[in-house]
Amino acid sequence: MKNTFGNVLTVTLFGESHGPAIGAVVDGLAPGLPVTDASIAACLALRRPAGAIATARVEPDAYQILSGVYNGKTTGTPLCLTIGNTNVRSGDYTPGLARPGHADYTGFCKYHGFEDPRGGGHFSARVTAALAAVGAIVLDALAAKHITVGTHIAACGSLHDRTFSLDPAGEIDRVKTMPFPLLDESLDAPMRAQIETAKAQGDSIGGILETAVCGMPAGVGEPWFDSIESLLSHVLFSIPAVKGVEFGDGFGLAGQQGSQANDAMRLQNGKVVTVTNHNGGINGGITNGMPLVFRCAFKPTPSIAKPQQTIDYSTMKETEIAVQGRHDPAVFHRAPVIVNALTALTLYDALAMRFGTDWFCGEAVL
Ligand SMILES: Cc1cc2nc3c(=O)[nH]c(=O)nc-3n(C[C@H](O)[C@H](O)[C@H](O)COP(=O)(O)O)c2cc1C
Repeated sequence: MKNTFGNVLTVTLFGESHGPAIGAVVDGLAPGLPVTDASIAACLALRRPAGAIATARVEPDAYQILSGVYNGKTTGTPLCLTIGNTNVRSGDYTPGLARPGHADYTGFCKYHGFEDPRGGGHFSARVTAALAAVGAIVLDALAAKHITVGTHIAACGSLHDRTFSLDPAGEIDRVKTMPFPLLDESLDAPMRAQIETAKAQGDSIGGILETAVCGMPAGVGEPWFDSIESLLSHVLFSIPAVKGVEFGDGFGLAGQQGSQANDAMRLQNGKVVTVTNHNGGINGGITNGMPLVFRCAFKPTPSIAKPQQTIDYSTMKETEIAVQGRHDPAVFHRAPVIVNALTALTLYDALAMRFGTDWFCGEAVL
């Protein structure tokens, strides 16, 4: 039973949706990294539900750092951050009544009925608030090394945004602070309307997020089990509702010929670059110096008001469910900041494996 990810940098998640608090412990941070409320609060705000396209459960996300920070800088010892749960309505959940597509039944199978069923318990995306908060610290640490991460909504139901360009640095800077991040902002209203239509029908829709990372040095990652694709997909599939991850042209590469899929190589001011980036900045599990590009497919929210066939596992009887209570009619648009946070934690870990933790220490510290 494991809730920890990482090698040199590890993150452990704890807490339940309707318990007193959720949180994260991050171990392996370099000493002397700035920890600023502005960054943490901004990331928490990007994850917080807003408007008709999100759940009505809005939490203030007041966080507390219990350890690992002194005078606004990391100490290098484990950083523990907690966020209180204040806005809960546990009566909306009936223990034993399995929501199709959710983790109620699988959680019961694993934890033998001792799991906290309220609001999805430890399986709730509420826990991702802690990732957004600690991710802010690590995103800042990467930015100080000129590595930037940004995610936009590539698809919402049947509507598609354009994809990142070959040099996405400016696009990353723009989307990373947007609450509904799009490269083509004219899609904002129609995409929101699609989510609202699904909600009005007592239903939900899915979507795709596309992420780009600029500034990763070439040569980071391990050839086999800790390849950059392996590490990133491990964490990205940990995000609730993610059911697909692809790098570069991903599944599309299978339909191409080698002459199309290969990224021709050339020199630009003495630096090796590729003419295209079909491989998403990774070859042999190792970064090639081009931007990393990958996509995550999010399924539609499982908790929907439409009646569905299910089982009550407390009585082992077949029954019907029409989920009431407060739910997101689509979840993907709340997840860009979570994807950015997990990407940052993973790349920090890979960079620390390659160069050591002190690579992140400012010159004043070394
Ligand atoms: C930001 C975010 C918000 C979510 N909100 C809800 C929600 O309101 N209701 C719901 O049923 N599922 C929601 N989910 C999805 C479930 O947590 C997820 O589908 C469930 O834990 C089962 O995991 P799986 O879909 O990965 O199999 C959300 C996911 C994310 C990332």
